[in-house]
Amino acid sequence: MASLQGKDILHGNQFSKKDIHTVIESTADFEKELKKKGSLTLLRGKILATLFFEPSTRTRLSFETAMQRLGGGVISMGSVESSSVAKGETLVDTVRTVSEYADVIVIRHPRIGSAKEAADAVPIPIINAGDGAGQHPTQALLDIYTIYKELGSLKKLEVSMVGDLKNGRTVHALVELLSLFHARFHFVSPESLRMPEEITSSLKQKGIEIEETEDFVKAASESDLIYMTRMQKERFVDLSEYEQVKGRYIINGEFLQRLKQKITILHPLPRVDEISPEVDAYPGAAYFRQVRNGVFVRMALLSMVLGKR
Ligand code: NCD
Repeated sequence: MASLQGKDILHGNQFSKKDIHTVIESTADFEKELKKKGSLTLLRGKILATLFFEPSTRTRLSFETAMQRLGGGVISMGSVESSSVAKGETLVDTVRTVSEYADVIVIRHPRIGSAKEAADAVPIPIINAGDGAGQHPTQALLDIYTIYKELGSLKKLEVSMVGDLKNGRTVHALVELLSLFHARFHFVSPESLRMPEEITSSLKQKGIEIEETEDFVKAASESDLIYMTRMQKERFVDLSEYEQVKGRYIINGEFLQRLKQKITILHPLPRVDEISPEVDAYPGAAYFRQVRNGVFVRMALLSMVLGKR
């Protein structure tokens, strides 16, 4: 791949098929090495800063874990209320300041385009960990790594993406990557939360087959993979609309019984009510393995942008 050294990671569309294979190979190496040695020293002396202007558990902690497993250090802004953001500091000023301390910044912010804005302001690599309802490219790469491990291939998969496809940034990034491998998509959502038009039209232009439907059982019974998402409550202006759609699509034991085939289930987490806990024991329920893979993928990505891979 054109090396990622010094580059930003902002959008799913910046990766080619070859890049994805490079990330998968490097991630698999890190997974193996980490299993053997427990921790590594590749990024000793380097510092990662995490700037999270929105809640996070997995993304922030897995980046911090990845950096520390590689021997690097981590600084973190902590909560918005405890930082100078609360005094009215602009995003650009915050990022310029932090770039004087750190070698790489991981940022999550509620505004679409915010990561790009940060990247344009500083010379060090910026990694987009979610810009509002925009993109979440590192989640998409860990999803891809998980799919590859679970299904053994990325080619021509039939995929149901389910839930809040309008506001879910993880699906926006993941369709970019899966479409490179000629996936066929069933987009299952309430009418009001359909995949944004600019995404569906660009998929159609690329010759990707998509179906938009509200019939979850039918879509799932034709799929190799279900990518489940949460209704993104924090993006609803009118909470009564959220109340109308919450609980619309649920995977439980009864749902699984209606499917004839074995199916792989992914979810970026957190889940609210879309997957019942009884599903966790189902062999195809891969969402906690997906969590584990997040650390390995982020080890690979941090090493790459810092020029060590
Ligand atoms: C997702 C996110 O923040 O976009 N979570 C994550 O990063 N694993 C999904 C979500 O919040 O629903």
